[in-house]
Amino acid sequence: MEQKRFYVTTPIYYVNDRPHIGHVYTTTIADVMARYHRMMGHDTFFLTGTDEHATKVVDAAAERGITTQQWADQNATAFQETFERLEMSNDDFIRTSQKRHMDRVTGYVQKLLDSGDVYLGDYEGWYDAGQEEYVPENKAKEYDFVSPVNGKPLVKKTEQNYFFKLSKYQDALLALLDLGEEVNGSTFDVQPSARKNEIVARVKEGLHDIPMTRTGMTDWGIKVPGDEEHTIYVWVDALFNYFSTVDTDDRKKYWPAEVHFIAKDILWFHAAIWPALLMALGEKLPKVVYSHSYWISEGQKMSKSLGNFIDLEKIDHYVETFSLDALRWFLATNGPMGTTDSDFAESKFIEVYNSDLANTFGNCASRISNMVAKYFDGVMPEKGPHVPMSDEYDNIAEQCVTKYTEAMANYQLAKAGDAAMELVRAVDSYIERTGPFKLAKDPEKLPEVASILYNCAEALRIASVMLWPFMPDKVQTFWSRIGFAAYGEALADKGAGQFEQWTNWGYLQPGTAIEKGDALFMRYQVPKK
Ligand code: ME8
Ligand code: MG
Repeated sequence: MEQKRFYVTTPIYYVNDRPHIGHVYTTTIADVMARYHRMMGHDTFFLTGTDEHATKVVDAAAERGITTQQWADQNATAFQETFERLEMSNDDFIRTSQKRHMDRVTGYVQKLLDSGDVYLGDYEGWYDAGQEEYVPENKAKEYDFVSPVNGKPLVKKTEQNYFFKLSKYQDALLALLDLGEEVNGSTFDVQPSARKNEIVARVKEGLHDIPMTRTGMTDWGIKVPGDEEHTIYVWVDALFNYFSTVDTDDRKKYWPAEVHFIAKDILWFHAAIWPALLMALGEKLPKVVYSHSYWISEGQKMSKSLGNFIDLEKIDHYVETFSLDALRWFLATNGPMGTTDSDFAESKFIEVYNSDLANTFGNCASRISNMVAKYFDGVMPEKGPHVPMSDEYDNIAEQCVTKYTEAMANYQLAKAGDAAMELVRAVDSYIERTGPFKLAKDPEKLPEVASILYNCAEALRIASVMLWPFMPDKVQTFWSRIGFAAYGEALADKGAGQFEQWTNWGYLQPGTAIEKGDALFMRYQVPKK
């Protein structure tokens, strides 16, 4: 059987900004998904990178008296280093100023010129310089001819441009999105469905051809082949990254991408323009564009004027105080995957940290290892008589695993995380109900205690497998304490895991030493002011 493939991407981030929680968020959820699929044994490719050909990059460099390339290099490095420090497992980091990307984009645009999907014409419109995009007439009116993003006036511009025949793909887009039909052997979905409905409504209003080049960029950006005066519009250049990076002999197998994770701000480009460009090229379409909502900060929209970004300094503070895995867990399970924004508030972070990590996963691991130490000298005993884990059903682990994989298949990270935690909570209630600490006072009951502890540890082992994509470091520590360091070795260096096997009951061997070690997550006490 052919190995399943999974190609996941994040937006490529504007190289002018400093990385902040928004960028870290999208990259984290893509990382969780990539790790999950590697653990499933799928041939996985995870891409992130930077978008560098915006005019504002040229301006920012000029202000600082350095070359555009130097400025781009400096800032792209900041993103790269941040993602490395946060242990993102991306397989590549694409920069649109790299030759490998630029050369391929030239080729794609040449192909579109040849087919007539790109043609030369006149454009007059309202330009939002901060966003590097033209605003449609009706929107410009609605905005009172002022940028909704930075408050600066929109500028009326006329230029000779190359146009992309977006209008030609209106029917195909509606067939794909509104009717859920296949077009040329591809399906294409936008999630969550409320976001898809927004796109369908907008496509139904009618699509116009869009300008896809501009003039006046001397030496930054990608030129239109055969016409040096025109530079390919930064958005078209950027969208191609998802394809150009894998458009090589050994990577071609990854296309089409399974999912592009983005936020609502850039949905139109990904849900309408990108599939149309691909159809024009005759390429397969990504299966899903997943558009999440925004993080806000302590109840307020993050903005430069408020200076309230959850920036790298704050991110580092959370990592130092609570651990990287705690940050990952909070982002992945409390983030804005739906259509409402999420608040990144310290009080909420602490609450989630204490309840899920310190009091549930961490505490459960300590309880079990403490009891194994106390009653069985730190060695997992042979099981005694059957002591069922639950009154209602005895296969709670299996049920949680099913819930988990179903949630993961639908990018429901919070639900998946909760399925793992449900199993941990089931272990806790099993301990409460059966009272091994009481039973252990009677030597005759020790075989029962052995059964209980075995079931607890085995269920927790299975929960930990589910938790690994979220918290790879802590789970690795836990595995090495219970004799499963081999899982980590199999997953190290992006090797393939065996999720299905690993979540089967009965892998924990009696006779295994169970190490106690420090608390995986120390309970956090809010310091008294
Ligand atoms: O738009 N909450 O780059 P960008 C959650 N270069 N996610 C957020 C966020 C927030 N408050 N703020 C930003 C661009 N993001 C283009 C993309 S892709 C071909 C080109 C995340 O640096 C989110 O993923 O402005 C959003 O879509 C992205 O950063 C925008 O990054
Ligand atoms: Mg942006």
